[in-house]
Amino acid sequence: MITRPLNLFEYESLAPKHLSQMALDYFASGAWDEVTLADNRAAFNRYKLHPRVLVDVSQRELGTTLLGQPIPTPILVAPMAFQCLANSEGELATARAAADVGAGMVLSTLSTKSLEDVAIASNLANQSCLWFQLYIHRDRGLTRALVERAEAAGFQALCLTVDAPLLGRRERDQRREFALPSGMELANLVTLSDLKIAHASGESGLFAYVAQQFDPSLTWQDVEWLQSLTHLPVVVKGILRGDDAVRAVEYGAKAVIVSNHGGRQLDGAIASIDALSDIVTSVGDQVDVLMDGGVRRGTDILKALALGAKAVLVGRPVLWGLAVIGEQGARHVLDLLKNELDVAMALSGCPSIPAIDASLVKPIN
Ligand SMILES: Cc1cc2nc3c(=O)[nH]c(=O)nc-3n(C[C@H](O)[C@H](O)[C@H](O)COP(=O)(O)O)c2cc1C
Repeated sequence: MITRPLNLFEYESLAPKHLSQMALDYFASGAWDEVTLADNRAAFNRYKLHPRVLVDVSQRELGTTLLGQPIPTPILVAPMAFQCLANSEGELATARAAADVGAGMVLSTLSTKSLEDVAIASNLANQSCLWFQLYIHRDRGLTRALVERAEAAGFQALCLTVDAPLLGRRERDQRREFALPSGMELANLVTLSDLKIAHASGESGLFAYVAQQFDPSLTWQDVEWLQSLTHLPVVVKGILRGDDAVRAVEYGAKAVIVSNHGGRQLDGAIASIDALSDIVTSVGDQVDVLMDGGVRRGTDILKALALGAKAVLVGRPVLWGLAVIGEQGARHVLDLLKNELDVAMALSGCPSIPAIDASLVKPIN
């Protein structure tokens, strides 16, 4: 009898026992009625696989390239704030787990371990793909300093999140008046200025922080501005329309991430997997297209790749793994996904990532 979780859903059901109610609500919630949150999952079931048979799949290769660099699997950990709410090692544990499994990692601006410490942990564990997610603050000096630090620390790309001029309304966080517990800090920002996610009466402290600190006046010109600050490639995260993807490329993005922020921003927005093929068609092979939102099984990854994604990002399940058994749990979650992808590729006649083509998946109406 096996007692350890066999899949990502089992981690999700174990996680609540290991988290404060405030942390659980913060991790799990979506915006308003959580329609997009649910649809990110439901939408995967609207695509059916059309497997090929009698292909030699005795040797399988999950490696691919992202931004021209080799990566052992087409899986990255999505940027997620405040990982010390799940486990005291927080983002350090995630970085080590991702590197061990050959998954990439995108570190949030709002991390609870400093970007320098995460880069060290990640490099020591032989990470091949480490990106820094950037929220542009109103204070452009602070933003510039973050970019310089990320570049100096060895991050390989900047992932600019563009779907959060304001924070989506997450009513569970509002009800609990979400704030970071004492002793936990915005590790990248404390040294630059005394920014905090503090208690806000009748409000989520994070909503209040974003309203005060993030720059809601961002436009495409700011993508150019960011590109002018750095030698690193800029990846734009939070695209749901083909025309926006085309603009992102025009303004210098080297990759786009199709994402609705895990259903946490605009409720009612299209499920990421449904938005993917239009975007792939719009930008062709000019840039890499990635997607996130609701990826929970290897077959979800196979579908996303068949629809034209170069890689996927996975969010909440990594937090569930971290919460249940720390670094080991995060590693197991990523390993499960990788192994499921391997089996799904074998069963659909794909010995390698380039063999996954559009004919493998069809939407049902
Ligand atoms: C707890 C939590 C915190 C997040 N923090 C950030 C963040 O700091 N920056 C960002 O760009 N996206 C953030 N996201 C969105 C994720 O990067 C990603 O788009 C989403 O979680 C993917 O959906 P999934 O959780 O269904 O896999 C966060 C998501 C969660 C669940």
